[in-house]
Amino acid sequence: MIRRMATDAGNPIPRFPADFLWGVSTSAHQIEGAAGEREPSVWDVFEAEPGRIKDGSTAAVACDHFHRHREDVALLAGLGVDAYRFSISWPRVNSPGGLDFYDRLVDDLIAAGVRPVPTLFHWDLPVTQDWLQRDTASRFAEYVSVVADRLGDRVKKWITLNEPAEHTLLGHALGAHAPGKELLFDALPVAHHQLLAHGLAVRALRAAGATDIGIANSHGPTWPASQEPEDIEAANFYDLLLNRLFAEPLILGEYPSGLGELMPGDVESDLKVIAEPIDWYGVNYYAPSRVGAPQGAEIEFGGLTLPAELPFSVREIEDVPVTDFGWPVVPEGLTELLTTFHDRYGDRLPPVVITENGCSYDGLDDQDRIAYLDGHVRALHGALAAGVDVRGYFVWSLLDNFEWAEGYERRFGLVHVDYETQARTPKASYGWFQGLLRAQRERA
Ligand code: NOJ
Repeated sequence: MIRRMATDAGNPIPRFPADFLWGVSTSAHQIEGAAGEREPSVWDVFEAEPGRIKDGSTAAVACDHFHRHREDVALLAGLGVDAYRFSISWPRVNSPGGLDFYDRLVDDLIAAGVRPVPTLFHWDLPVTQDWLQRDTASRFAEYVSVVADRLGDRVKKWITLNEPAEHTLLGHALGAHAPGKELLFDALPVAHHQLLAHGLAVRALRAAGATDIGIANSHGPTWPASQEPEDIEAANFYDLLLNRLFAEPLILGEYPSGLGELMPGDVESDLKVIAEPIDWYGVNYYAPSRVGAPQGAEIEFGGLTLPAELPFSVREIEDVPVTDFGWPVVPEGLTELLTTFHDRYGDRLPPVVITENGCSYDGLDDQDRIAYLDGHVRALHGALAAGVDVRGYFVWSLLDNFEWAEGYERRFGLVHVDYETQARTPKASYGWFQGLLRAQRERA
């Protein structure tokens, strides 16, 4: 196993366009805490079930950002980012005073010179909702209208959903995330209803005057385990589920490879809603996947147990460094992903924003994180140079936080959080990103 990666870190990072948007990301459930001050979400229920979260923790307090958001806004200002991607918790908005919190956060961000970029759904579904039910899409759009009416005078850039693919796969097909359903392919309606919710949310945001709307989808290149036809077929299938199923209804207005036939409701008319034009397309990129034919047995992979009945198996990518989470580090996968999308969708692909990219490493002197980010920013520049219209890059994450089923043991932050004292300590990578932003501005 390679622990250290080779870097280009000695050379300056090439120059990005002057209006390129640099930012960092978080999500409500992972940082806010103050769980008692809002109605419950499916994650609160899931965390209370024994064995669901690896370190037995919950997000009830997390980074206590709800009570410390001023300190966190100061960290953002010190970092010098243009924008901050956070998420709005639907259960909190449903609770008294919930929207007031986001109102204050938005004001404080703007006062600090940081553009607010809220995501309207980042997995913390109210317990009263269920993505298997079509009605949840309509309820989501109503909530979006309420938020847009309140914040739309100051928030200009919006994200509808975060990673509907992972929420479908991990939350509803495999049961590794809330709400813990293990439906395998019967989870497909969850994908459709989220896509529908996205389209309805775009309409609700437009009705409130929004002109800068995107989504954050998780994507990665899929590499076949070998050139054998069964491995290629399995890799194509995985690509269909991870990439095409969520990109094509939005970008092309159609489901790929007959998947539409497996979706509930009047799919043709829903696709018109789903394909409401968006202003940019957000991509969360972490790593590529090596995929082969099924091996007829359960697979332990990336902290997940994948059932034997899946029509593919996920394999290790050899000869590349891995993060402390065991995820492969392949910066050029980002260039490959974006050029593949550009080749596939041509002019129909909206401008791209990298809405998440980052890695889990321990320690304050996080040279490995610096090398990871440095490599990915260069790879992103490679995509720009190859003609992909990329408009922004957001690091996951500002703070160490509650990494879902992994609890607090995975640390993705540019800023370390001591969960005993809630002390925030900028890591070496915070200084590195600050320097990158400064250098880009000086040369702009
Ligand atoms: C994707 C998710 O959007 C985010 O919530 C998560 O923490 C990161 N990836 C890292 O796994």
